[in-house]
Amino acid sequence: MAEHRIHNFNAGPAALPLQVLEEIQANFLNFDHSGMSITEISHRSSYFDKVINDAVERAKRLLKLDERYHVLFLQGGASLQFAMVPMNFLGDNDSADYVNTGTWAGKAIKEAQILKKNHKVAASSEDKDFSYIPKDIQFSANAKYVHLTSNNTIKGTQYYKFPDTKGIPIVCDMSSDIFQDPWR
Ligand SMILES: Cc1ncc(COP(=O)(O)O)c(C=O)c1O
Repeated sequence: MAEHRIHNFNAGPAALPLQVLEEIQANFLNFDHSGMSITEISHRSSYFDKVINDAVERAKRLLKLDERYHVLFLQGGASLQFAMVPMNFLGDNDSADYVNTGTWAGKAIKEAQILKKNHKVAASSEDKDFSYIPKDIQFSANAKYVHLTSNNTIKGTQYYKFPDTKGIPIVCDMSSDIFQDPWR
């Protein structure tokens, strides 16, 4: 089997170690000795509770999050959050700052526009076809949040250190590098 595998180096969906795939395959039909596959188990069963609780613990460990943090697995992916974040965090008199570093940041900004929410593009690298990450950004003191895209999956630019927002919460789309490193 191994010699027929194709190695996919894409920035998005990419190759997984064969050992991991084989373990998933072996566990698929009879998950945790339940006699059922993982896709057949009730999402309200103790079997599934274990799966989700384990995923929360692993996410917290990898991201070095302590008990102050909650991990939520939300439906709809990043694209739904482009709309949900301004819907949930921006009241009529609030505003948010966005940094436009490419395709995905642009989609996030567009959702804030569609929703007619007050927002400002605090910095952008559009002038050079999104080939860099803007530095020394002046954020609005009253911004409710600063929206960043940690990895520009399409052009390949990435924050190595998050900007100092002077206490303004960062909302970050980390779709393509969330568990890469905990040090930012
Ligand atoms: C940085 C980034 N944001 C958003 C998305 C879209 O994510 P989703 O499919 O979860 O909406 C992707 C990839 O598809 C991405 O790389």
